[in-house]
Amino acid sequence: MKRARIVGTGAYVPEAVLTNRDLEQRIETTDEWIVSRTGIRERHIAAEGEHTSDLAARAARAALEMAGVGAEDIDLIVVGTITGDFPWPATACLVQEKIGAKRAFAFDVSAACSGFVYALDAAVKQIQCGAVRKALVIGAEILSRIVDWEDRNTCVLFGDGAGAVVLSAEEGEHGVLSTHLHSDGSYWELLYQAGFGARNPATAQGLDARLPYLKMQGNEVFKVAVRMLTEVAQEALAHNGLQVEDIDLFIPHQANRRILEAVAKRLHLRDEQVFINVDFYGNTSGASIPIALDEVNRAGRIKAGDLVLFDAFGGGFTWASALVRW
Ligand code: UT7
Repeated sequence: MKRARIVGTGAYVPEAVLTNRDLEQRIETTDEWIVSRTGIRERHIAAEGEHTSDLAARAARAALEMAGVGAEDIDLIVVGTITGDFPWPATACLVQEKIGAKRAFAFDVSAACSGFVYALDAAVKQIQCGAVRKALVIGAEILSRIVDWEDRNTCVLFGDGAGAVVLSAEEGEHGVLSTHLHSDGSYWELLYQAGFGARNPATAQGLDARLPYLKMQGNEVFKVAVRMLTEVAQEALAHNGLQVEDIDLFIPHQANRRILEAVAKRLHLRDEQVFINVDFYGNTSGASIPIALDEVNRAGRIKAGDLVLFDAFGGGFTWASALVRW
């Protein structure tokens, strides 16, 4: 069976930065509250006319360039997103057109903040079964267009951006060693967007009821997130016969510094093993893991042979891990 090896990474975040101080001018909040409760200091916000597919295409081009792979060599594009350009067609198809990946087939995966790891799993399986040789896996979001800018409980948390990896079918020991995916739909109402879809189609009343905006019961999400992120990481270690010390780099979904520190503590991870950059991007949902991965990769922090563990949790609820030998 072929392995899916990550041969390039890329990321793109919009230019405009919204700081906590900027938010203090707009809503009843403080930099102190946001930093102490979440670790977030600033986030990037997409410009008018800048679409999720634009962010995704920029991240994809950077990953292709690093990999030395041409867009025409890509067989598959999977985008993990909950803020695609349109309900349909898939943002992956728009990315295909933008980068000129003429031979690829393309689809989106909807798994909220677990979207990148779910998308990665889909692409890895296509490679393992021999159907695909080269794939682009992208996490891309413009959360700023679905947050309620009048709801201080949520609007301070999220940011926009995209990250991408190029996967190549290879022989040998390097590549994705395992993926574990889970869902529990009984929690769907704790984190969701009620409109406008087929259940709540567009109406003026729906807009007044603020249905098109993200809703979250933060406290409840927090507790389950810590538990599931811990469990699915332990599952990956057990499946591969590894101990926590064997992990060179733990890259969790960047939701909230307190969540990540609680998970790291439960797993007995040392600080040097854990990568956190939520301070500068906020929660970019499906984009957070590939943005973080690209940052550490370009900083030269990952060596060939290192074990890198991705750990994600999001709306649905969904949660997932992927273990990679670099
Ligand atoms: O991406 C995956 C899914 N999402 C997550 O993983 C997010 C999970 N949840 C969280 O990160 C945290 O629950 C939050 C950061 C959202 C909230 O932190 P918390 O420690 O759980 O605070 P809380 O919800 O218990 O709220 C505490 C207080 C409330 O005031 P009262 O009712 O105690 O008087 C809020 O009204 O903080 C108030 N508050 C704020 N104050 C200033 C809520 N948002 C703000 C704000 N500025 N922006």
